[in-house]
Amino acid sequence: MKKFLIAGNWKMNKTSAEAAAFAEELKAKNLPNAKDVCVMAPFTSIEALGKGLEGSGIGFGAQNVHFEPSGAYTGEISVAMLQELGVGYCVIGHSERREYFAETDETVNKKLKVLIAAGITPILCVGESLEVREQGGEQTFVAGQVIADFADIPAADAAKVVIAYEPIWAIGTGKTATPEQAEDMCAFIRGVVSGIYDNATGDGMLILYGGSMKPSNAKELLEKPDINGGLIGGASLKVDDFAAIAEAAASL
Ligand code: 13P
Repeated sequence: MKKFLIAGNWKMNKTSAEAAAFAEELKAKNLPNAKDVCVMAPFTSIEALGKGLEGSGIGFGAQNVHFEPSGAYTGEISVAMLQELGVGYCVIGHSERREYFAETDETVNKKLKVLIAAGITPILCVGESLEVREQGGEQTFVAGQVIADFADIPAADAAKVVIAYEPIWAIGTGKTATPEQAEDMCAFIRGVVSGIYDNATGDGMLILYGGSMKPSNAKELLEKPDINGGLIGGASLKVDDFAAIAEAAASL
């Protein structure tokens, strides 16, 4: 059976009080696949989210981390700080961080390493811009990201990473990639991972699709063979929508 992960990325949304209320409502949904569901909150709301989800099996996490263990890095958060909150997941290399906050493949690679060492599952985001796709360069671009992001990471560690393919042109635009476009790239990424490591690592890797996933299009995306779930922005802010996407995965 295909493995799934349905991951919510709240981005810069929801205060602690709002996170607590969301957790209570989501928990009450009694999702059959709760252990395959997680929510990534802003740093300040992680604790409330985690407490609210206690006993539900639903995972929770952060949207960034610094790669140094401590020191003079004003405004940054270390892995130990996340560990203390009990986070299970951390989004790394989101296109918004790459675009607005100078995230590079080099910093992504360092962050992957510290998260893996800490036992926190990284959700590594890759994906091309509209300009790159219009020029037909999307496979070269995404392969380049994957190769650079996994540099010097051994197969046993790479197997602990989740990849999310998020075409930038589909994020927050309402313009979803077609199931075929999403499947093609997820299958391609799996091949790139197999090429770097081996078939077992490629076959075993969870590869998610992200970009305007919602209840009305989730099933057709999730039923594709190389799509192991979703990284969901806007639709993860509403309990009913997010739960409906999780339920679509559970039904497959
Ligand atoms: P939307 O679902 O709002 O398009 O966002 C996708 C995303 O960037 C998740 O990380």
